[in-house]
Amino acid sequence: MGLELPHPASRRHFFRQALAYVAGVPLAVLLVDMLRRVRAQQVAPPVAIPPDVAAGLSVVEGAIVHREGDGAIRAYSARCTHLGCRIDRVAGDEVICPCHGSRFRADGSVVNGPATRPLEPMRVERDPATGGWIARASP
Ligand code: FES
Repeated sequence: MGLELPHPASRRHFFRQALAYVAGVPLAVLLVDMLRRVRAQQVAPPVAIPPDVAAGLSVVEGAIVHREGDGAIRAYSARCTHLGCRIDRVAGDEVICPCHGSRFRADGSVVNGPATRPLEPMRVERDPATGGWIARASP
């Protein structure tokens, strides 16, 4: 009794499946990367933060702004990292997404999900024209 070779049709089927897998994985990786880049290009325009922005957390246009006790300003994108809803509410020391209830701390980290990733930090620069700041999405 010798070794039986698979039927040529099943070998063909096997190689087609293997080729589809080998070609499919890099294509999926490319597609995910493309989607990530497209999404990154859809970032909000710069946000003007007024010089008299309140201490603590506040929502200023498309940014979550945290003015610390020493006056330092930090800003995060108001786009929720779960499914991209625009966050429009703060409560005490937390930022709350209206869509599914994710909560974030003043440093952007997640308090509770469904979001698992922290809010995206924005670059903050002084705006000499207004005395306030400009927050821009980080590249
Ligand atoms: S989009 Fe914000 S919690 Fe789902």
